[in-house]
Amino acid sequence: MTKEPKRYLVTSALPYANGPLHIGHIGGAYLNADIYVRYLRSKGKDVVFICGSDEHGAAITLRAKKEGKSPREIVDYYHSLMHKAFVDLGISFDEYHRTSSDEHRVMSQDIFLELEKKGQFEVETSQQYYDEEAHQFLADRYIIGTCPKCANDKAYGDQCEKCGSSLSPLELIDPRSTLSGSKPILKETSHWFLPMAHHESWIREYIKDGQLDGHVHHDSKEWKAHVVGQCMSWIDGGLQSRAMTRDLDWGVPVPLPGAEGKVLYVWLDAPIGYITNTKVWAEKNGKNWEDYWKSDDTRLIHFIGKDNIVFHCIIFPIILKAHGQFILPHNVPANEFMNLEGDKISTSRNWAVWLHEYLQEFEGRQDEMRYVLCSIMPEQKDSEFTWSDFKDRINNELADIVGNFANRVFVLMHKFYNGVLPAITGEATEAERQASAEARRAYHAVGEKIEHYRFREALAEAMNIARAGNKLLTETEPWKLIKTDPDAAARILHSCANLVADTAFCLQPFLPFTAEKIRAALHLTWPAWDELEKQALLQTGHTIGQLPILFTKITDEEVALQVKKLEDAKLLAASQNKAAIKDPIDFETFQKMDIRLVKILEAEAVPKTKKLLKLKVDTGVDQRTVVSGIAEHYTPEDVIGKTVLFLANLAPRDIKGIKSEGMILMAENAVQGLSLVSAVKPMDAGDGVK
Ligand code: MF3
Ligand code: ZN
Repeated sequence: MTKEPKRYLVTSALPYANGPLHIGHIGGAYLNADIYVRYLRSKGKDVVFICGSDEHGAAITLRAKKEGKSPREIVDYYHSLMHKAFVDLGISFDEYHRTSSDEHRVMSQDIFLELEKKGQFEVETSQQYYDEEAHQFLADRYIIGTCPKCANDKAYGDQCEKCGSSLSPLELIDPRSTLSGSKPILKETSHWFLPMAHHESWIREYIKDGQLDGHVHHDSKEWKAHVVGQCMSWIDGGLQSRAMTRDLDWGVPVPLPGAEGKVLYVWLDAPIGYITNTKVWAEKNGKNWEDYWKSDDTRLIHFIGKDNIVFHCIIFPIILKAHGQFILPHNVPANEFMNLEGDKISTSRNWAVWLHEYLQEFEGRQDEMRYVLCSIMPEQKDSEFTWSDFKDRINNELADIVGNFANRVFVLMHKFYNGVLPAITGEATEAERQASAEARRAYHAVGEKIEHYRFREALAEAMNIARAGNKLLTETEPWKLIKTDPDAAARILHSCANLVADTAFCLQPFLPFTAEKIRAALHLTWPAWDELEKQALLQTGHTIGQLPILFTKITDEEVALQVKKLEDAKLLAASQNKAAIKDPIDFETFQKMDIRLVKILEAEAVPKTKKLLKLKVDTGVDQRTVVSGIAEHYTPEDVIGKTVLFLANLAPRDIKGIKSEGMILMAENAVQGLSLVSAVKPMDAGDGVK
């Protein structure tokens, strides 16, 4: 099949510098890449691991606007926050650079110009929304309006978050600019388009059959089915031309005369960031970046989340090939999404476990999070993180299997042999042979699973080594054998000590901090990955040291605290998301409303409903019945006697067979739910409100 590469270039999606990292990011595109790379390094491969911050595009300018800061301030802040969090979690990038750098401007402009020179763009003129008050063209995300599919009045120019349909700004009904609130006008502008349809036939072969230029490029069966599936349905849907430039004042300027005020489309410049950052790394390390990007004995692997699939499998490859000198990805093992406590992770709703906060609150416990995120990585389908599962996995797996096994072996080794590995005498029993056979099998499986991007299974196999060790200890009880059959006890401890070493060795890519603690306690240096095959890590006569505590158990209180923190954060976010001001109405319309105070005289629940109370109110001129949806927030006793705001001339409505005349007016937010509204001074039923 495809031949062994000479070097590996591994990338993780450049995260937008518009917010902190959360566990969904980590389980999506960073931890898996880190495991893969650590494994390749241990195999002695030539590998470079590239990432960086994605600092352009509307994601950034929108955030800046929301926080009243400049885009520069935003990206500087999040770039360092994210970089530090990655380093602290042990994500071992060789380079973490940024797309707002000079190096990147030069690289992406060069590539753009080369494409332009080769005639790969078509300049097209079109009508786009322009905000006359803010004096700028509006990126899709800057336009909101009513969704033509579901009538949600807060749909964005590129997508309706309510019904999920992807939209174009021109489809929005009643569009408004989020910059000024004004109604945007259509204005002519020209852009550089990539005519993707020209590339359809080769990109189809590349994705479907792994063929490129008439050769086998990669084994297409090695690609995840959901990745190929998403790409094929995109290609089958017809490849549309896509604008590679934007009218915006934040980004890489289009390096052509007549293109003032235009920047490169963020999805053109961001993946080029992989190239820039490789070059930055190469220059620091005396390497030639072109070996990594222009030589077909390099294997390029992109780790990403599923929302980035078409960009990495179709659009970026088209750009690379159109340019003419670059290699294309060998695989794009995209992950699906990780949910959190039954809900989608959402930055805007603050429903997330933020990495930098975890690292602070659970100091020194990076491997616990790495372990859990790898165990539930959404490799083939969406998965879910819950704090109680986090606790169970750490307590019942990490602590009970790895921690306990290593600890028992260290204690026994010191107690019976002063920490010196005893010699092997006599024939191994069946139980001993089984344990070492299992360890050998699992070690091979770890490597083979990692090579196929099956990180969950790979980790489970590494854990199987500790399981086999625990089983051997429990079945043979060497602390008893030491009196009756000291040779057997020595053989077993000799092999158990090696099983501890093997476990730590195989856990290196997954749990680097723990592997390191065990390695140091064993007084070992790690050989290359394949050496484990050839000889045992610990030889007779080797002296081991003291093992620190590896894992402390997670308590129910810690779980409860985290769940509460999530819920509080969500409430807070919801209470901050105030509704936009509605469209203006004229004074006459307002005056038509009879808003007054009424006194609630009687109240009772409406049978067979949860939300409704039937109220009798005094309007100052009559007494009438209204049905009000407040039963989840107020009991009848709470409301009787209150004087509250009321809309008296709302046309009568029939609610659950009761004629309701008027409406109690309420304030509402996410924290308090509904609240009756009263006058600040003592006022009476019938007093008008204007
Ligand atoms: N910033 C994008 C996201 O978070 C990913 C960019 S990947 C790159 O979805 F290839 F463009 F860099
Ligand atoms: Zn919709």
